[in-house]
This record gives sequence, structure tokens and C-alpha cells, in this order.
Amino acid sequence: MNEIIKIHGNKKLNGEVTVSSCKNSAVAILPSVVLASEIVKLYDVPEIEDVKVLVKLLGLLNIDVRANGDELTIDPTEICNVDLLDDDVMRLRASYYFMGALLGRFKHVKMYSPGGCNLGPRPIDLHLKGFEALGATIKQDGNIIEIDAEELKGTDIYLDFASVGATINIMLASCFAQGRTTIENAAKEPEIIDLSSMLNKMGAHIRGAGTSEITIDGVFRLKGCIHDIIPDRIEAGTYIIAAAAIGEDVTIKNVIPQHIEALTSKLEEMGVKLMQGPDYIRVLESENLKAVDIITQPFPGFATDLQQPLTSLMTKAIGTSHIEETIYAERFKHCHELNQMGANIQYKTGSSTIHGGTPLHGTDIFATDLRCGAALVIAGLMADGETNIHNAYHIYRGYDSIVSKLQALGADIE
Ligand code: EPZ
Repeated sequence: MNEIIKIHGNKKLNGEVTVSSCKNSAVAILPSVVLASEIVKLYDVPEIEDVKVLVKLLGLLNIDVRANGDELTIDPTEICNVDLLDDDVMRLRASYYFMGALLGRFKHVKMYSPGGCNLGPRPIDLHLKGFEALGATIKQDGNIIEIDAEELKGTDIYLDFASVGATINIMLASCFAQGRTTIENAAKEPEIIDLSSMLNKMGAHIRGAGTSEITIDGVFRLKGCIHDIIPDRIEAGTYIIAAAAIGEDVTIKNVIPQHIEALTSKLEEMGVKLMQGPDYIRVLESENLKAVDIITQPFPGFATDLQQPLTSLMTKAIGTSHIEETIYAERFKHCHELNQMGANIQYKTGSSTIHGGTPLHGTDIFATDLRCGAALVIAGLMADGETNIHNAYHIYRGYDSIVSKLQALGADIE
């Protein structure tokens, strides 16, 4: 269904916005409940489409999920390991965490391959290599993956690329393996630390999350636990960029500043006036912004998820900005849409060049993926006139209540 977000732009933003909990943490934590033998209680679960889909998939496994606002009580005691051959598996990428969790718990999983944002090829070879290293055998028949293991034995696994998904999936698959698993060149994203701290509360023995070497010592079972999901650093970054673009005095709350240092230091380099508290960032009206260059990197480098929103801000900077995208070489579908609004962006596989100083005007534009959608919302807030963003469902996958949060800041959006 084509949902449209309509914005009458060029209205200054003021006030406070509170960031929700982290999508990319929640979408790993929910499938990991498969490993638990007792009830898990989650607080601050973001109310986004991806969470709703994962809750449905947990239900297919006979896991009872009760929601009370943003609290989820999940009871995995009656779990049964049915094949996950439901089309919803293909609606998001994170469904692939059920591979690691079901393999880890039952030594068998059969399910569809994952879906998710169209950012170019998104193989899962590193995930499968990790499972095979632990002793699993993999059968792929078209879009169906079947993974089996007589037993799972801890081993040393080196990741050719510090993949977030592969790091998490191997952590899940090795929780009950015999002995120690070491992941070398592991991803260091905060979401990995969040998941590891929850699994350790449940009785896992995981060390080194947040560094490039993670060890997992296999245990026999995992208890339940209570867990409060960390704030969403990408949502925070998105609102900080919006405030830099069209804000007068905006405070973004529920932020862990250390999680977005690469962004805030780049914004200061552009001349954005930022004040940083222990759990908030305050942005004051900033004019005459300077063009900057960024290269996307795994954490703690500049997040690939924020290069698209930052592109919208760069259109008003004075000078020419360059973006080198080392994670997803095709992550530039937002550029065409921004050029329809008056931007002057050249782009090709792996990089974009933004010639700034181009005022934006509203028009009909199309979201193609989650963070492209975020970039278009920021552009709509900046633009003169009316902007209609089509296929807005991409945006609702990862931004809890984005329309009402922006309305509260004074945006004319619906
Ligand atoms: C996670 O995706 C996030 N998604 C992405 O956020 C984020 O952009 C990405 O990490 C990088 O930070 C979730 O957490 C659900 P990767 P993931 O494995 O795990 C290649 C958003 O907007 N690769 O670190 O898929 C891959 O093709 C989403 O919230 C392999 O080649 O990222 C890509 O080029 C978008 N083989 C690069 O590594 C593999 O087996 C990064 O992938 C796995 C990955």
C-alpha cells in the first residue's frame, strides 16, 4: 500500500524529541529469545514494523509474546521448532537471526532467506561460513535454507569483513556449543554489546563484545531475564541532522553520545552548533555550514546508515562534499530523489559528490529504503513548498512515531 508523508517545509524546528530504543538491537534480541528456557521481559521495545514482524515469527514458533505498551513479556517455554516458511520472513533482513538461534538451540533450522532494504547485493556467506565452522551442514534449495548439526563445537572463526549480522549470528549459534568459540575481526557496534549483555544476564559466557575479538564459552541452558534495550543511535543521528538542517533550538534526548561521535564531530566540522550532555544533544540554529567529506566505516567509524540523511544536510552546505560508501556500494537511491528537489548531486557505485548551496523545493518523491526515506523527510522539512514522500512504509520500519515526533517539534507534516 502506498502510504504518503506530506510535508510543508521550511518551518523551523524547536523543542525536545526523545529517541526510541534501538531497532538494530531489538531485531537481534527478539530472535535470541529462542535460546531462553524461561520468560524474558523487554522494556522500551521500539514500536516499529520490523518488531511487529519478528513478534509474529516468534508466534509461529509457539512463543507467547504479550505487549504492554513498549514492554514485551516473552514466554519461550512451549517453543516448537517449526520451519519458518512464512512470507514475512522475507520482509526484513534481521529474520536471519533465527538461523543462529534455532541452530544453536535445536541444531536444526529450515527457513526462507532474509529480505530487507534494497541496498545492492547483501550476501550471508560470512554467516554460513561461521555455522559450518561450528560443525553445521547447509543445504540451500532456491530461497529455502536448511542447516543441521550433529553437534556444535567451539572453534576460532575469522570474519573477512567485520559484519554486524555475521558476528551476532555466530554468537547465537555458539551459545550452547561445546567449548570456546572465538570470533576474530568481529563487528564492534553497540548493538552487539547490548545483545551480549542480555545473553550474559541469561547465563551465557560471552566476553569481548565491542572489541574485535569476542569469545563465547558454551553453556547448557539459558535462563530468562529482564532487559532494557539501548537507545537508537541512528534515529538519534537522524534527528540531530534534521535539527542542524532546519532547527532553531532542538534537544534530542535519550542519546548515548559515545555512539554517535563520528557524526557529531563531522557536524561540528561543518559548523553546526552542538551542545552535548550525558544523555542528550542540543542543536542550535547554524548557518553558513561548510562542506565536508565522509567515508563510511564499521563502528566506531561514520555509520553507513547516516550517510543518506547527512546527504540532505550537505545540499545546503557551502562548497562540495564527498561521500565514500565502503559498506553498501549501491546505497545512493536517495540522490535521484534529492536532485528532483533541486539538489545537485553526482553519484556512482561507491561514492557521491554533493555540490552545496542548492535550495530545495517540494515535489513528489519516492522512498526506496529506510534511510533513504529518512533523508527525504529531512529534505522535505528543509524544502520550500509541499513535499509528498511516497512508499512511506519503508520509513515506519525503523522510525517509531516519526510524524508525531516531528509535529511536536513544529514541523508541518502528516
Ligand atoms: C546491519 O546490517 C544493519 N542492519 C544495517 O542497518 C547496517 O547498515 C549494517 O549492519 C552496517 O552497519 C541490522 O542490524 C538489522 P553487515 P548487516 O553484515 O548485518 C557485507 C538499517 O538501515 N556482507 O555488517 O546486514 C554486506 O553485503 C540497516 O538499519 C557480506 O559480504 O550488515 C555489506 O556490504 C541497513 N557477507 C557489509 O558486509 C555477509 O555474510 C556490511 O554488512 C554479511 C555481510
